[in-house]
Amino acid sequence: MAEFKEAPADASAALKLLTWVDNRFPASKLYKEHLSEYYAPKNFNFWYFFGSLALLVLVIQIVTGIFLVMHYKPDAALAFASVEYIMRDVPWGWLVRYMHSTGASAFFVVVYLHMYRGLIYGSYRKPRELVWIFGCAIFLCLMAEAFMGYLLPWGQMSYWGAQVIVNLFAAVPFVGEDLALLIRGDYVVSDATLNRFFSFHVIAVPLVLLGLVVAHIIALHEVGSNNPDGVEIKAKKDERGIPLDGIPFHPYYSVHDIMGVGGFLMIFTAIVFFGPELGGYFLEYNNFIPADPLKTPAHIAPVWYFTPFYSMLRATTDVMVNVLSVIVALGAVLTVLKGGLSGKAKGAVLIGALVGIALLKTFDAKFWGVVVMGGAVIILFFLPWLDKSPVKSIRYRPTWHSYLYGVFVVFFLVLGYLGIQPPSDIGTLVAQVGTLFYFGFFLLMPWWSQIGEFKPVPDRVTFEAH
Ligand code: HEM
Repeated sequence: MAEFKEAPADASAALKLLTWVDNRFPASKLYKEHLSEYYAPKNFNFWYFFGSLALLVLVIQIVTGIFLVMHYKPDAALAFASVEYIMRDVPWGWLVRYMHSTGASAFFVVVYLHMYRGLIYGSYRKPRELVWIFGCAIFLCLMAEAFMGYLLPWGQMSYWGAQVIVNLFAAVPFVGEDLALLIRGDYVVSDATLNRFFSFHVIAVPLVLLGLVVAHIIALHEVGSNNPDGVEIKAKKDERGIPLDGIPFHPYYSVHDIMGVGGFLMIFTAIVFFGPELGGYFLEYNNFIPADPLKTPAHIAPVWYFTPFYSMLRATTDVMVNVLSVIVALGAVLTVLKGGLSGKAKGAVLIGALVGIALLKTFDAKFWGVVVMGGAVIILFFLPWLDKSPVKSIRYRPTWHSYLYGVFVVFFLVLGYLGIQPPSDIGTLVAQVGTLFYFGFFLLMPWWSQIGEFKPVPDRVTFEAH
């Protein structure tokens, strides 16, 4: 136990109270460690707004969620009407609901940009692997949270979207049917499903999410923030042990982040007040029709933030499985021909490839679609070990690396667009190319990330006062 401190006799009442608290709870210590004496690199740019904005949206979702739960009824016979009641009769209910529905999309916008920042500045590299891994786990939780929340208004899209996605689990070999039954709690999406999704959406997943966010920030503050130059500021410290290129988070970045909050709130409130449906992207038109288990809508599409992954699922047709088999075979042959492997290792590669191809052919394309969709998220966890580039930040990588990241973004957006559209032959073909590019980008990263002419990384961060 730390020694008790005494406030001077003539200290203000506030200081005396703080000293009393500090003797029992590390309030000042936490404030110093995480705010006033947390030294962040002085060269942060706008990309560094999105972490604090993700925190803001998290708070918005929790607070508006609490008020929604006061009036919402998790009952298949009442849910749709209770949302209408919130919109029409509950004082300010329309605002709370639109903030929550817009907040869901805003969360993904902010988090996608936050992840992209990590990607271009190599923020996932040593020593920040755990910061990234907690982030990927947050992303998974966020997807589960959004998916289950979407069932709650019990509209046509809520119902049929859940039906389609839960049915995917049935494609898992051997245990699939039981798994889908366990998730639904019934043979079709029903009141039982609504009750369990409600329970997970309002308490279980948010608890995990909050825990992960705390772990994410503790891990970040343990190792310190990266920056747009990818230079470790802790390598150069003054005689007091403070990084030469570090500035206290508070007040410098607390003020900087307020600027980001201002910009964000302008866009967020404009959408909430003037276009909360955002042309059917944030709230789909079909969801204004009550769920009808007897009437399947003509076109079922998930909300925009899931569509890149949904596109990959739809792209995994029988033809695509054949293409994947050829790729596995080619990969194995090239690995063996490249040399450097012992006879045993060569044999293992060839047998591995044969088993892989046999599995690809044994299970149907629907199952592989689920694997591809899940794999697209899971692969992100491995990024810290896939990137072998000698430098962290895109600023000091060969120029063509930036173009590659550009093509990656374009494909991701195109996949997102195609996932919203009804399936078509040309759309499927483009989605297949996009899916191959997405996986190629990550799986071949150990190879391509080392190639090209790297620029010299400065000793200190680059910064111009503004
Ligand atoms: C609820 C969601 C999230 C919240 C509230 C959150 C919060 C934060 C905050 C406050 C920071 C420090 C400020 C900043 O660097 O922008 C940060 C940094 C970071 N986050 Fe997140 N984050 C979330 C999701 C994610 C996800 C999904 C990933 C990646 C998969 C991720 C990866 C990172 C990384 C790598 C850093 C360090 C960046 C650097 O030092 O350059 N975060 N996060």
